[in-house]
Amino acid sequence: MKIPINTPIFGKEEINEVRAVLLEKSLTSSENAGGKRVQEFEKLLSKFVKSKYAVAVNSGTAALQAALYALDIKKGDEVLIPSFTFVATANAVVSVGATPVFVDILENYTMDPDDLSKKLTKKSKAIIPVHLYGNVAYMDEILEIANKHDLEIIEDACQSLGSTYKGKHSGTFSRLGCFSMYAAKVITSGEGGAIVADDKKLFEKLRKIRNHGMLHGYDTRILGFNLRLPEINAAIAKVQMKKLNKFIIQRRKNAKILTEFLSDLPIILPRERKGEMVNWYLYTIAAKKRDKIMRALNSVGIGAFPYYSTPVHKVPFYNNDLKLVVTEWAASNVLSLPIHPLVNIENIRQISKILHKGAVC
Ligand SMILES: Cc1ncc(COP(=O)(O)O)c(C=O)c1O
Repeated sequence: MKIPINTPIFGKEEINEVRAVLLEKSLTSSENAGGKRVQEFEKLLSKFVKSKYAVAVNSGTAALQAALYALDIKKGDEVLIPSFTFVATANAVVSVGATPVFVDILENYTMDPDDLSKKLTKKSKAIIPVHLYGNVAYMDEILEIANKHDLEIIEDACQSLGSTYKGKHSGTFSRLGCFSMYAAKVITSGEGGAIVADDKKLFEKLRKIRNHGMLHGYDTRILGFNLRLPEINAAIAKVQMKKLNKFIIQRRKNAKILTEFLSDLPIILPRERKGEMVNWYLYTIAAKKRDKIMRALNSVGIGAFPYYSTPVHKVPFYNNDLKLVVTEWAASNVLSLPIHPLVNIENIRQISKILHKGAVC
């Protein structure tokens, strides 16, 4: 039996939509507004997160890059990001010529606002909080710092579609929020991403950035690229959006059961903050014997995996000798366990049994 850490879940609805795209031969659109399925997906996404606008692009990385370009972040600017994230957050910053400044995290694995304040310099221009594992970053505190120092915020919500804090969706606390629909995410289009915004000017700029800076075609006005989401991917994303609530409900059920089963163990379990509703993209424990537990689970086909065993400031390309205490502790202790909608009660019981069998002692 194999239980992957995450897996795409789709059925005949997605297949029918993809078939329709192929039959119509409407594979993409170079129009500023995007193709029919792109627009349908954007409407569903903005309605779901309660933003005025959404712009679909071809990856979460592209979403971050487009957001940085839209806010004119450039060479000489510093962008504060957590080091405990997927490397795309940092790479997007470097791609616009700016410098990532690495910030430590708190116990929920998101950016530490106190450390953020300490890392500010005259060159600070923007902050990218990451809602890691689906946990919502401390946005009240981060917004206060940003307002005080006149800094932009771009939310990296690539892992947190559907997570809310005090009823507000992750990705909508600031001017721009970025999502990913990579194959392992809560909903997927294979590859894909989107930026949400309430500001019409930013929305219009993002649409141009997605399409070589053009408005009507061959009239480039600003720097842009081909960040367009193909119609086949948009068709899948559109159908997946309609299943998102159901997926999250099942993830939440599984997370609750797993927490009940593991609650007597000497390990740190993930939990929601007061007012928070997590999408449970990743259920992540922290344990001293992380590697031993992982080996025991992997040996029976359970895809437990540490996100992330190397923080970004320690990967060879960034190789920064900065000390980030909580980040480095997390990198050596975290382990994510499968709880996606295809995980059943028997699977959860098996995961729990292996952890109880002495793997943690
Ligand atoms: C936190 C975070 N940021 C950015 C990305 C980049 O998204 P994508 O893989 O769609 O480019 C991901 C997804 O893998 C992610 O998890």
